Amino acid sequence: MVVTVFSPKGGVGKTTLALALAKVLSETNKVCVLECDFSPGDFVSLLDLDKEKNIVNACLGNYKACLQKPAGERFDVIVGGFPDMQESLKYADVEKLIDSLSGEYDYVLIDLQPQISEVTVPALLKADRVLFVLEDDISAVSRTVGMLEYLELHGFLDVNKACAVINKVKGKKKYITAVDLGIPVIYSIPYLRRLSEYKDKKMIKHARSLKDALFGLKKEKSLLRRLLNGFKRVKQKN
Ligand SMILES: Nc1ncnc2c1ncn2[C@@H]1O[C@H](COP(=O)(O)OP(=O)(O)O)[C@@H](O)[C@H]1O
Ligand SMILES: [Mg+2]
Repeated sequence: MVVTVFSPKGGVGKTTLALALAKVLSETNKVCVLECDFSPGDFVSLLDLDKEKNIVNACLGNYKACLQKPAGERFDVIVGGFPDMQESLKYADVEKLIDSLSGEYDYVLIDLQPQISEVTVPALLKADRVLFVLEDDISAVSRTVGMLEYLELHGFLDVNKACAVINKVKGKKKYITAVDLGIPVIYSIPYLRRLSEYKDKKMIKHARSLKDALFGLKKEKSLLRRLLNGFKRVKQKN
């Protein structure tokens, strides 16, 4: 299963959510996170890893030699690269790497950079799910709408595989409720004050619920909610 975490905007929480999901999924599954980010990526500094074991060397050499396990984690990662490195890769190189990883791992999570290029498109086309991360602000919402249109037009994305999570929600949602993204919004995460890292307890709790929403494990509705829905249906019939 390949899950790509994407957003046309930086700073919305892609890396945080990809790593939090990896932590949760790796409790019971074999997980690898591929940082498909040349802007440059964050994994090297964030997780204190070797920058030589990056996506370019994984594509052009033996990818197994580029797998690294962050301290204290059960999942593996391949770190991203620097802006000039993108030119040394072709679509097929990244496609092959994703295929190899998905043959070896239960879950391959891809932390994808905002810019679309030849080397980032396979991360969209090879994904079983594409999770769009956005904030409830006007620029994030309108950029996501524009990006979805663009990706669909060029055949870079199967929208049936796409869904969205709204991150850093403060109070009542405004913009997202007024716009039809065209993909389902499966979960919302509040703005977590003093969030220092993806491993934060509250973030991990949300990642668990996000995981359930992503893989279709809807929480059982409360008895009260079911009764109310039942009443509503009876009322509608009458
Ligand atoms: N729900 C949240 N509440 C508060 N801060 C968050 C939340 N999600 C992410 N952040 C913070 O936002 C910043 C950008 O997150 P990051 O995951 O690096 O975004 P991206 O990968 O999309 O650029 C980080 O400092 C991160 O700790
Ligand atoms: Mg990031």
